[in-house]
Amino acid sequence: MWCCLFLYLGLGFGQGDTSLCLFQVQNDPEFKHKIKTQALLYPALQVIDCHLPSHQENEHGVVITKDLAIKFVSLYFTNDEILYQAMRRNEHMPLESRHLFKLVNWSTFLPEKFRKDYVYTEPILGRYNYSWPVLTDIRASPLLANDSWLQNLPPTYVLTCQYDIVRDDGVMYVSRLQNVGVQVTHDHIENGIHGALSYTEFPLYLRLGFRIRDMYISWLDKNL
Ligand SMILES: *[C@@H]1O[C@H](CO)[C@@H](O)[C@H](O)[C@H]1NC(C)=O
Ligand SMILES: *[C@@H]1O[C@H](CO)[C@@H](O)[C@H](O)[C@H]1NC(C)=O
Ligand SMILES: *[C@@H]1O[C@H](CO)[C@@H](O)[C@H](O)[C@H]1NC(C)=O
Repeated sequence: MWCCLFLYLGLGFGQGDTSLCLFQVQNDPEFKHKIKTQALLYPALQVIDCHLPSHQENEHGVVITKDLAIKFVSLYFTNDEILYQAMRRNEHMPLESRHLFKLVNWSTFLPEKFRKDYVYTEPILGRYNYSWPVLTDIRASPLLANDSWLQNLPPTYVLTCQYDIVRDDGVMYVSRLQNVGVQVTHDHIENGIHGALSYTEFPLYLRLGFRIRDMYISWLDKNL
């Protein structure tokens, strides 16, 4: 049995290439071998709603601020400042994308611990007149896949960090996978920051980074 592991690291659409591969392989009837597992470490999984509780809490976050995160993401599509400004105001999606917001509705998919007292507000649609189909492509934004698509995914490992702007993407993905019966292991690091796994090498050795590495490797040991 051929087994394959996908590791999603970092912010932005770095995960796009691997999820593309995973979706194609997993849903291709010609492909005889099943993917055994996927692992996502503090993944970014959607960009249609930029006003999740984790965006609000970590607006001035360590490692990455909200402005910087949105800047990086918008640059994947265009260097026109207009998209960046629209995303900052959460007004970047067209009217015809309305049906997708139920897939990233944090008031339904986040456990109370993460929802806290935040009040759900729907993004303003149709104010920004350009349309970027790639913003809603499930290969770049796995959270926008429908339930019948998600249920084909293999057992999944998701690691999220409390002080991370993309934390809620990962937490919502856990909920959505669990809702369709995919086996998920979720490690949430209470004092975690985005990218911590990178800080296990010169010049920065964070105990946090080694802890994440050990948790992830121990999951691999048990599940590969
Ligand atoms: C999101 O969920 C809330 C209830 O928790 C609901 O009032 C709202 O209409 C939902 N919005 C979308 C776009 O699904
Ligand atoms: C967007 O399009 C509408 C209708 O075509 C127009 O009224 C509006 O001024 C446009 N907005 C921008 C920001 O270009
Ligand atoms: C789910 O999404 C896939 C891929 O986008 C699509 O082919 C399929 O028709 C969708 N299924 C439903 C029930 O909407």
